Amino acid sequence: MKTLIVYAHPNPQSFNRAILDALVAGLQAAKHEVVIKDLYAENFDPVLKAQDLEQLQSGNIPPRIQAEQQTLLDAEQIIFIYPLWWFDRPAILKGWFDIVFTNQVAFTFNDKGVQGLLKHKKALVIITAGGSESYFQDTDAMPLIHRPVTDGTLGFCGIQDVQHKIYFDVPSLTDEKRQRILQEIEQAGKEF
Ligand SMILES: Cc1cc2nc3c(=O)[nH]c(=O)nc-3n(C[C@H](O)[C@H](O)[C@H](O)COP(=O)(O)O)c2cc1C
Repeated sequence: MKTLIVYAHPNPQSFNRAILDALVAGLQAAKHEVVIKDLYAENFDPVLKAQDLEQLQSGNIPPRIQAEQQTLLDAEQIIFIYPLWWFDRPAILKGWFDIVFTNQVAFTFNDKGVQGLLKHKKALVIITAGGSESYFQDTDAMPLIHRPVTDGTLGFCGIQDVQHKIYFDVPSLTDEKRQRILQEIEQAGKEF
């Protein structure tokens, strides 16, 4: 199974990076063909420029966007790993969606309304947060953490099976809890 991981964290020493490594170990143990898109490492330019938009709107896909879309479409499953930044993805990842999930490639409109075009079998969204679970529950903010990605983007674009995992209190986790999470992630990779 060809699995694309889109990873967005600038620090190679971060917990997010440890999650990436644990996940890759699990996926590889289960014989997945893993492709990692490390947005910071490749200095991905997340800005959808006026010229790009103009070309897209006239039905042409600029070569840089085409190449990104090919990577997405070649995968059978897709996983995202990122920290929650202002209740959302880091801007570099938001920009990746702006650039890659274009009209006529990721979705289209017909007389029945919107139609998702992505055929990936499954998606998993892994998010780390600084806040506590009780904070998000007490403020009714739990769905805000993941829904823009899980429902607003992946589900909207046709992926039926979209799962998510959120890890809270990450900056203050003990080493023991970190290890437990990493084991859980590796197992999730084996079972994905
Ligand atoms: C720019 C920025 C914005 C953040 N916004 C939030 C937020 O909205 N909610 C939250 O719970 N944590 C927020 N955090 C905390 C991070 O989510 C947390 O530190 C990270 O998930 C920990 O993982 P790491 O050690 O791999 O960076 C923010 C951190 C930064 C740097």
